[in-house]
Amino acid sequence: MMSHLLSIDSLSRDDIDHLMRVAAQMEPIAQRRKITRVLEGAVLGNLFFEASTRTRVSFHTAFSRLGGSVCDTTGFTFSSMAKGESIYDTSRVMAGYCDAIVMRHPDQGSVAEFASATQVPVINAGDGPGEHPSQALLDFYTIDKEFTRQGKSLNGAHVLMTGDLKFGRTVHSLIKLLSLYAPMRVTLVAPPGLEMPAHLIERVSRQGLDVQVRESLAGDFSDVDVVYTTRIQKERFTAEMSEGFNLSRDFTVHRAFMDSRCNPSTIIMHPLPRDSRPEANDLDVDLNGDPRLAIFRQTDNGIPVRMAIFATLLKVEDLIAKDLRDVPWFVPAKVGVDDAVF
Ligand code: NCD
Repeated sequence: MMSHLLSIDSLSRDDIDHLMRVAAQMEPIAQRRKITRVLEGAVLGNLFFEASTRTRVSFHTAFSRLGGSVCDTTGFTFSSMAKGESIYDTSRVMAGYCDAIVMRHPDQGSVAEFASATQVPVINAGDGPGEHPSQALLDFYTIDKEFTRQGKSLNGAHVLMTGDLKFGRTVHSLIKLLSLYAPMRVTLVAPPGLEMPAHLIERVSRQGLDVQVRESLAGDFSDVDVVYTTRIQKERFTAEMSEGFNLSRDFTVHRAFMDSRCNPSTIIMHPLPRDSRPEANDLDVDLNGDPRLAIFRQTDNGIPVRMAIFATLLKVEDLIAKDLRDVPWFVPAKVGVDDAVF
């Protein structure tokens, strides 16, 4: 097993299977039925130099629910990087204070550079357009869990990835992860200029993933098991790209698309945030409340999966079962008002 989590590249299929098993064991804690203290005394450094809500908070709460405590830094303004400190120096300093470090940074490769200065486990929570491996792990956990509920097999499953496949780091990590589970099919649909990098398509195809590229969401998608939509990453556009860019509604996943082109068991995923401004044409809100919409089950799954990552990197996963107590406080049966009950 890896000592850092920087990229899906460092994981074997056995490593991922292990993380999935540990995540399943974390469910009673993540669902607030049980408490564990296996990381009591441990401190996480949670360093976010780019916008984040769910990744930052879910890493924080995952570490807290294992009994550890968390130090947060958000943005460059309040960190010493604003004074010109290098990634290397920051890393060595943080390693003296923390038992694990989560980092998000706008530059591709920056988190790996950070990790090279320390033996304290470092988790890449997104390095610019590079990778976001913990997201791919929770996406895969979600697919597996939804398939189990539906009685479907992962073997030969078909995933449609759509949206910004060029700058979307979650799809970069996810397509690499899925290639470890070939045979599987992936269909890619991106607006012009935002296609999946060719080197990634070549690489995963070589590993046995069946990759098809289609120009638009027109036509039949009835054999797709998962529609994985993503936000257009306008903040990563060059000035030239931004000029007059408007995502056409032809690339939007909405209720009519799901009803007319997909099959009734197709699930809809999105790493979130979805851009809910109407002109953004991101995943349509007309699917809200639809049981096919798995996006909030997906965000909920971030907790057990991130707990599994910490427990595995810090080598306490075998202690969890021996260290469980009941939760004494009130927990509602459903956390969202229109959550599907399965
Ligand atoms: C994504 C990210 O930051 O890469 N969000 C997330 O972590 N779930 C997707 C995005 O920003 O669009």
